[in-house]
Amino acid sequence: MHPHVEKILLEENQINERIQQLGQQITQDYQGKDILMVGILKGAMIFLADLVRNIEVPTFFDFMAVSSYGAGTVSSGVVRILKDLDKSIEGKHIIIVEDIVDTGLTLQYMVENIKSRGPASVKVCTLLDKPDRRKVEVPIDYNGFQIPDEFVVGFGLDYNERYRNLPYIAVLKPEIYQS
Ligand code: XMP
Ligand code: MG
Repeated sequence: MHPHVEKILLEENQINERIQQLGQQITQDYQGKDILMVGILKGAMIFLADLVRNIEVPTFFDFMAVSSYGAGTVSSGVVRILKDLDKSIEGKHIIIVEDIVDTGLTLQYMVENIKSRGPASVKVCTLLDKPDRRKVEVPIDYNGFQIPDEFVVGFGLDYNERYRNLPYIAVLKPEIYQS
């Protein structure tokens, strides 16, 4: 275990098993269709990479980078597009892939933004759902895990850009968040 980690919330094998299930579910739901995954950088990158390898219909991907947090752990509610999609998504079946839904503000913005571009359909897939702090109701079609209201890192999620490479989801020691 990484020396900065206080506790592991989700072990690597648990996450991998759940991603397999999500992939199977998505495969069933999208029979006869192509999927365009829109990954939200950078947090969803690891999840998306594992997810697409468990999907057995033609799957394409593109990415958007948005900022809603700055450097800390508190949502500002302000979403800024740092990197937009490469191509038009008109007529495509979109799955927005997120690492975590917390207040829901980022996702609400993303869904509205994507819908305004004329896709055939839009669904949402998130690895983690932290329902305790929700401010706006956003429909989640595919959810990996519900977690309690704790700031987590690993499997793509960061604290000040660190710890994204941890293969599990963990809570850091309090002194790490303070420093
Ligand atoms: P909102 O509040 O808009 O937040 O739903 C979604 C985005 O906030 C980040 N976020 C976290 N990042 N550990 C993280 O590393 C967390 O516990 C956490 N909670 C929210 C994340 O970037 C997500 O896309
Ligand atoms: Mg982040």
